[in-house]
Amino acid sequence: MSPKALNSSASVADLRVSLGDLKLKNPIMTASGTFGYGQEFVPYMNIHRLGAVVVKGISLFPRSGNPPPRIVETPCGMLNAIGLENVGVERFISEKIPALQAINVPVVVNILGDTVQEYSEITKRLADVEGIAAIEVNISCPNVKKGGVAFGSVPKMAEAVTKAVKENISVPVFVKLSPNVTDITEIGRAVEDGGADAVSLINTLIGMAIDHRTRRPVLANVFGGLSGPAIKPVAIRMVNLVAQAVSIPVIGIGGIETTEDVIEFLLAGATAVQLGTANFVNPRASEEAVEGLTQYVIDEKLLSVRELIGGLVLS
Ligand SMILES: Cc1cc2nc3c(=O)[nH]c(=O)nc-3n(C[C@H](O)[C@H](O)[C@H](O)COP(=O)(O)O)c2cc1C
Repeated sequence: MSPKALNSSASVADLRVSLGDLKLKNPIMTASGTFGYGQEFVPYMNIHRLGAVVVKGISLFPRSGNPPPRIVETPCGMLNAIGLENVGVERFISEKIPALQAINVPVVVNILGDTVQEYSEITKRLADVEGIAAIEVNISCPNVKKGGVAFGSVPKMAEAVTKAVKENISVPVFVKLSPNVTDITEIGRAVEDGGADAVSLINTLIGMAIDHRTRRPVLANVFGGLSGPAIKPVAIRMVNLVAQAVSIPVIGIGGIETTEDVIEFLLAGATAVQLGTANFVNPRASEEAVEGLTQYVIDEKLLSVRELIGGLVLS
């Protein structure tokens, strides 16, 4: 499409969506851990065209992550065991936020912790910081005080973390659900009860890769999180189930690479989406999805992109 055609179409297509009190100009976001701190992608694309950017998960103290190898390519996807490496909340505030503010795109800060107290502490540190549009809470982390059971796999713990974050900050709070549970709708309802303004799903599916030549696990951590197109059908089903189970907006994540993928997630019930692994293949994937969705809304003569949300036809 010529830039001229795109400009004229962008002015007539209504792509706006709302996630709680957060109003986005379009539903395309980037997924945490796959887009660095945002700044890294500036040379490759027009970040300000995205609905929002979700940054790498931030913890109370810096983390160096797991030893290498930490990533392996798998059929239609990748397995990672980065181990939530990040600069910690203090350096994030002093170094990363100012750079992001210069870009003029809503910034969603993904947070993680080992205890409920830690989630509260990080949130308190972020509460007075300018330039944060929303918080996304990663609950796929092990609760060290409860024997390492992930917060995201026990409804009461998921609700407690949500409450702890909500109590300490005024911007909208999204809670990111793990697919590694028996019933994801139960966790979705629990975080809604805890006050979440939206749920994002899915995080990675736990997997393992073995090198048949060495007879050893490929990842130093043995297990890793599977992402990319391989998980898309699992993610769409879970988005569809959770969208019917809760009344807050759902942010769809999992294997999204193209405009068609975005449309499918919206039809399944997502209000917005995040592109993750796709950024490693094509750093412009999310911007191209904005362009593609704009054109689709025009071509289909939709009054707004919101007409697609939950528009799945079952009969
Ligand atoms: C290398 C890598 C690092 C990730 N780091 C985080 C993280 O820090 N916090 C988080 O909530 N999700 C993290 N994720 C999960 C993604 O945000 C996303 O939920 C998942 O990859 C599924 O989407 P995709 O198939 O589009 O990649 C990470 C994923 C990858 C591949």
